[in-house]
Amino acid sequence: MDAELILKQIAEEVQNCTRCPLHKARRNPVPGEGPANAQIMFIGEAPGFYEDVQGRPFVGAAGKFLDELLESAGLRRADVFITNIVKCRPPGNRDPQPEELEGCEPYLDRQIEAIQPKVIVTLGRYSMNKFLPGAKISALHGQVFKVNGRLIVPMYHPAAALHQPSLRPKVEADFAILHDVLAGKVEAHEYIAPASKSKKDGPQQLSLF
Ligand code: URA
Repeated sequence: MDAELILKQIAEEVQNCTRCPLHKARRNPVPGEGPANAQIMFIGEAPGFYEDVQGRPFVGAAGKFLDELLESAGLRRADVFITNIVKCRPPGNRDPQPEELEGCEPYLDRQIEAIQPKVIVTLGRYSMNKFLPGAKISALHGQVFKVNGRLIVPMYHPAAALHQPSLRPKVEADFAILHDVLAGKVEAHEYIAPASKSKKDGPQQLSLF
């Protein structure tokens, strides 16, 4: 089946999904959007209020900032695929829970498989930890990692930069390297997960994905 059809099918499944309790309070699931041949895929955390209302990713304040960042990096929103690690809004925008992350993971995996993006940009720690378990965003943001043959660039979530203006120049600088990453001009590191320090943040973190 061609990638566009696969994405359509995944979106339909997400529309009807009842795999986790988030389906009970959602207005609209947000499967993600963008062309099936996108070279870059952005993965955020979860839909917020406006995304839940519209059924589209990153359309609220963080989305407006994401649009600015894309433009500043010479990228068009229409050319990239944008989605979230969790496709339905957690009530009150709380953090996604392990069962929600687990229930949603196959949708994201299938989207990646269909699109085969050259570069995946993770926005925030939840999507980062899917590919780079145990990583700290403050240490690794803006670096390029090769994970299972794919380039992963962890970045701060745009909402974090809106809440903490000192992060803004860092996020802008991270977006500015994307052209070079796409052109293969930035060296990719191998990711070595830190040894877990305690029972609490070790196995718990790793078992999410
Ligand atoms: N924050 C996210 O992580 N995703 C969205 O779609 C909107 C805000």
